[in-house]
Amino acid sequence: MADNSWGRMLGCVLCLCAGVVALSAMAGRSVATAADKPDQSLSTFMRMKLEASSRILEGLTTEDAAAIKEGADALMKMSNAERWNVLADEDYREFNRDFRSSVRKLHVAAENGNFDNATLQWIDTVKACVECHKYVRTQRPTIKN
Ligand code: HEC
Repeated sequence: MADNSWGRMLGCVLCLCAGVVALSAMAGRSVATAADKPDQSLSTFMRMKLEASSRILEGLTTEDAAAIKEGADALMKMSNAERWNVLADEDYREFNRDFRSSVRKLHVAAENGNFDNATLQWIDTVKACVECHKYVRTQRPTIKN
């Protein structure tokens, strides 16, 4: 994707920040780990990523390393769960690897208290969210619910 599109997208992401931070304040402190609830719908499971993302954003904006790590841990755990693998092809696995690699770097940056780097890793993570979803949309008929 061209750089200027990412610029526009980053603008959108930043606009969303305020809302997400407000939501996270309402949602309380703990991030549920959706991986523990195999009976919920795929949609409910996938939407838990928003809660973890909101916790990470809260951590980045308030320089709270523990919050970032908590959200990153929840995303890592989810992306390891059986439910996550709604597609089994090599491309999907590669999108997942990229995503997990960014989340891992985000966690390390938070561990080191490097919030600038953590912010950059979060942007990479969000790009990985978007890229995987673009791919998933092209594969939609093959998705199991
Ligand atoms: C490796 C692929 C992949 C990555 C990375 C990924 N997702 Fe998803 N996501 C999916 C799939 C698959 C679905 C289910 C799509 C469907 O039902 O059509 C989904 C669905 C969703 C949904 C819609 C749930 C619903 O039905 O209402 C949201 C919201 C979402 N993801 C958020 C995120 C966020 C936020 C991130 C990054 C922090 C992320 N996702 C990263 C694969 C991914």
